[in-house]
Amino acid sequence: MDFDIMKIPRNFILGAAASAWQTEGWAGKKTKQDSYLDLWYKNNKHVWHNGYGPAIATDFYHRFKEDIVLMKEIGLTHYRTSINWSRFLLDYESVIVDEEYADYTDQVINELLKNGIEPMICLEHYELPGELFETYGGWGSKHVVDLFVKYSEKVFERYGDRVKNWFTFNEPIVVQTRVYLDAIRYPFEQNTKKWMQWNFNKALATAKVVQLFNQKGYKERYGSKIGVILNPEVTYARSSAKHDIEAARIYDLFFNRIFLDPSIKGEYPPELFELMEKHDISFDSTENELQIIKENTVDYVGLNLYFPYRVKARTTAWNDSTPFHPAYYYEMFDLPGRKMNPYRGWEIYPRIMFDMAMRMKEDYGNIEWFIAENGMGVENEFRFKNDEGIIQDDYRIEFISDHLKWLLKAVERGSNCTGFMLWAFTDNVSPMNAYKNRYGLVEINLEENRNRKMKKSAYWYMNLIENRELQIHKDVFR
Ligand code: BG6
Repeated sequence: MDFDIMKIPRNFILGAAASAWQTEGWAGKKTKQDSYLDLWYKNNKHVWHNGYGPAIATDFYHRFKEDIVLMKEIGLTHYRTSINWSRFLLDYESVIVDEEYADYTDQVINELLKNGIEPMICLEHYELPGELFETYGGWGSKHVVDLFVKYSEKVFERYGDRVKNWFTFNEPIVVQTRVYLDAIRYPFEQNTKKWMQWNFNKALATAKVVQLFNQKGYKERYGSKIGVILNPEVTYARSSAKHDIEAARIYDLFFNRIFLDPSIKGEYPPELFELMEKHDISFDSTENELQIIKENTVDYVGLNLYFPYRVKARTTAWNDSTPFHPAYYYEMFDLPGRKMNPYRGWEIYPRIMFDMAMRMKEDYGNIEWFIAENGMGVENEFRFKNDEGIIQDDYRIEFISDHLKWLLKAVERGSNCTGFMLWAFTDNVSPMNAYKNRYGLVEINLEENRNRKMKKSAYWYMNLIENRELQIHKDVFR
């Protein structure tokens, strides 16, 4: 077979990602410090794959030094994770810091830096405090928005001198979509208006935290940046027919532009207001809040891209007795012959990288952005172990290569993409799927004391980082 080599620019980041709640475990957690995820796990353990959840996770809390040694060995220059809001404070209203957790965070950051690894920190990766969820309805409350700003201020005060890359949220649309739109997660309430309010309040929270960050002068003092990590679903219409294109456009409006536009452009698409009004799901907002959003856009964005989303116009009638759902305008479409990741049930279509990159260039002012997550989750990976017990995850290497090459092609075409963060550094716990789909460069062996072992992909990534050359098939850009 014929191969070509694509050069990876020296300054193009090749890193890996995770989050606090998916790795740390509950060691040292105080009774009142449950997060929303912890509540869900405690209330509905039976839906978490094999009963695993955040309780021990990867035990990063105790083993971060060991993990950082591996990061260094692989050659990672950047590691993306979060700070767990529910654990960082003892009192969310008067923002009393939990010194034990803050000290642990301090040690992690220092250890990363000592090893030449830049921390990229998210202020919320679904770690909304359970108490704020139960008392105020979580992100449905503007008071919670203000508490988030206060929490962020405390975090910046502690670590703002060392952490240069900040993000407000990871995938701010996800929790409320699963909870209030699709009603498939605790507390299983279908309520589209709440969905919209959470969407708006998180966009507002991002703007308010950006405002605070700018006022405090972190950029000037430390050259740091603040952004948000979004998960736009690159949307394709089934056909070139008008009705299918319209279905894709509306999907994009409700699930992608709803965060991309306010965060980057400072404004919602006017049509969204019309649709919200038509379906009686308008969020509650003031002129002043919309102005804050307008004036405080992000410096850059991280995008989590895993799969394409294909839609067609509805072929069946909408049931009007159920609450409004954007699916009123579309149905999902499964492309016959598509390549699938059968374990995760996601289509594999690496071109999403290029198409999204071009969109960032053309529709979003070519703002600086990077891939904050992309990776391949596979079940029962231990069956691929060789005689030395190393998981031979060639499928992951192929998956990453195929996605990276489309991304690099977009960089060649002028998209302002600065890097690629693989999900994930080690296997870790996901919401509900827990350890089902393994994503890591490094295996976590649940049978043997959560021991770490690099997979074949870790050695491959190490080589990629060092040599900056990606091998691709000659006929690849089809
Ligand atoms: C991403 C989330 O969307 O998907 C991660 O940001 C999550 O937190 C990852 O772990 C993989 O999810 P899953 O369900 O395939 O294990």
